[in-house]
Amino acid sequence: MKFSPKFIVFEGIDGAGKSTQIKLLRDALSIRGIECELTCEPTDFESGKRLREVLSGKVKKTQRELAEMFAFDRVVHNINEDRGINKLLADGKTVISDRYYYSSLAYQGAELGFDTVARLNLDDPNIRTPDLCIFLDLSPEDSLERISSRQDVQKEIFENYEVLSRTRKMFFDVFERLEAGGENIVVINASGSIEEIAEKILNTVTEKLYS
Ligand code: ADP
Ligand code: TYD
Repeated sequence: MKFSPKFIVFEGIDGAGKSTQIKLLRDALSIRGIECELTCEPTDFESGKRLREVLSGKVKKTQRELAEMFAFDRVVHNINEDRGINKLLADGKTVISDRYYYSSLAYQGAELGFDTVARLNLDDPNIRTPDLCIFLDLSPEDSLERISSRQDVQKEIFENYEVLSRTRKMFFDVFERLEAGGENIVVINASGSIEEIAEKILNTVTEKLYS
């Protein structure tokens, strides 16, 4: 494997298995000598904490304000001098992020339209394009089943069948548009066992980024 640092994003509706698979990919790449840092959005910076207050329903914002907060948090995610994506890549780390602008285009795009959210994100020079986006594709039924068996996590405002179903469709719409613009996006069926999916992901990452 070649060792140049990459920026990889995982996307998927809630419960698709992103956090499970990200950790497994990190471990598999580490064994192969590729050092990884895991990040997520909303971030754990102040900007991300404010977002979580809105997502939990504690603080009310308009859809437009919410989209702007996500884009701002993403800029911080990129440029934070201590542990932003730019810094980590410069230090030779491969960065794996749990969610990125595809989520904004799908969730906020459903409310505000694709173009509005695209302007806030794709036109911002401080928001870099990932080397690879992996979409873990799970049906809303399976996703809800997984979410309801996950006891430690508080349910957020996006987790119901209708929204999951609509969001999944939005993701596919977003990918069609972005692939036309040359983005590297791979959809992986996320309904198998944890081990099966991990193997598919590692094969994809190896083929797309390290061959
Ligand atoms: P996400 O980060 O996409 O919301 P998680 O990785 O937290 O998803 O997974 C949601 C729940 O489903 C967790 O309880 C996790 O242990 C479980 N899970 C993850 N992958 C699978 C799988 N392939 N099969 C069955 N359950 C899974
Ligand atoms: P997350 O904590 O990743 O949820 P989960 O672990 O359940 O997948 O993300 C919180 C919620 O924020 C999730 O429902 C998706 C939503 N979200 C957006 O609406 N827009 C965005 O740009 C991002 C990054 C997340």
